[in-house]
Amino acid sequence: MHSIDVLVIGAGAAGMMCAIEAAKRGRSVLVLDHAKKPGEKIRISGGGRCNFTNIHASPKNFLSQNPRFCISALSRYTQRDFLALIERHKIGYHEKTLGQLFCDGSAGQIIDMLLGQMQHHGAQLHLTATVESVEKTANGFMVRYSGGTVSCRSLVIATGGKSIPKMGATGFGYDIAARFGLRLVETRPGLVPLTFEPNLLERLKPLAGVAVDAVVACRKTRFAEAMLFTHRGISGPSILQISSYWREGDEITISMLPETDLFAALREERGRNGRQALQTALALHLPKKLAQLIAADISPAQNLADFSDVALRRVAAAVNEWRVKPAGSEGYRTAEVTLGGVDTRDLDSKTMEARDVPGLYFIGEVVDVTGWLGGYNFQWAWSSGWCAGQVV
Ligand code: FDA
Repeated sequence: MHSIDVLVIGAGAAGMMCAIEAAKRGRSVLVLDHAKKPGEKIRISGGGRCNFTNIHASPKNFLSQNPRFCISALSRYTQRDFLALIERHKIGYHEKTLGQLFCDGSAGQIIDMLLGQMQHHGAQLHLTATVESVEKTANGFMVRYSGGTVSCRSLVIATGGKSIPKMGATGFGYDIAARFGLRLVETRPGLVPLTFEPNLLERLKPLAGVAVDAVVACRKTRFAEAMLFTHRGISGPSILQISSYWREGDEITISMLPETDLFAALREERGRNGRQALQTALALHLPKKLAQLIAADISPAQNLADFSDVALRRVAAAVNEWRVKPAGSEGYRTAEVTLGGVDTRDLDSKTMEARDVPGLYFIGEVVDVTGWLGGYNFQWAWSSGWCAGQVV
């Protein structure tokens, strides 16, 4: 058995950041991960370019049962701090849209930077390590794993959420939290495509692959971004965003062409050319397949002149104010994040330490703090990992 100061379980974004910061302070640090490679979610994120933070990140971009919990960490290690790190390592980046920052090259540059920093400051990494048991001792913890037994003063759980089990996501962090008496907020998939029931799906089948700009609303939240029809339902940024707020049974309102008063546009078109078919008039504003489907649903053979104002309003509402009840979501198989997790009431917001278990820390996605789409989730991983790294 060997003894170290800090054992981090999980070599993802949060775990590696914490390991670097702790090692910088002279702590002996070991990071364990059951995967073959570290930071696999970083590697696949942002289409391989990693949307590593967001210029506008602020607590309002996060969901949690306690929305104030993330304030401290996000203000102590900000997006500007991470950006400064990226710049020091000469990693090129660009803003894509809405403050989202991506690598110019590949996400691998971020992983290499983190691994380089770990090595530089002396943090060790053991991959393909299976953790077998975790016990509390008088001075800390004893962890048995496939590579041996290690005792540590601080134990940091950075094993992420349940999303994408194919990539090795487990409920490990939640199990450890429960074993040590921490409360859990029910977990559910977030940033996930929504699905339709079979009848609606059959009707919308021809639209798979069609994208439109939309404002999508559920309860009191709305997002204005692109939306995509899929073989299972709907996806695209606006839908992924709203999915984190959507609950089974909720209706969502989708405003396609949010910038256009379609009723006014169709009425004008009717005045100009009443013999025009409805689908032709709609196709001036919408993708052709969508225009065809909406026209077919309403009245296939009619020309614009056959539509009264009331009827035109009905057409416009189908586009500007489509109300639909998704049947479900695609689940953890494709969800980018896991909502819920370790209850923040049981953690110190400045250090991420469990209030009643000195020496035990939870950082990153395993905690009940979940960001919007757009680099916010990595920022939470960097910020929470950094905070724990200052005290472990
Ligand atoms: P993360 O999941 O990264 O790391 C956990 C680590 O723990 C993994 O290495 C895993 O192998 C290990 N582990 C798990 N169980 C273990 C066990 N029992 N024993 C040992 N090790 C174990 N966010 C963002 O801000 N911008 C983006 O562009 C994207 N893009 C994106 C794309 C896709 C496809 C997904 C699935 C997710 C994103 N995200 C994202 C979300 C982002 O990837 C996520 O929020 C962070 O990776 C969370 O970082 P953590 O370090 O907390 O967990």
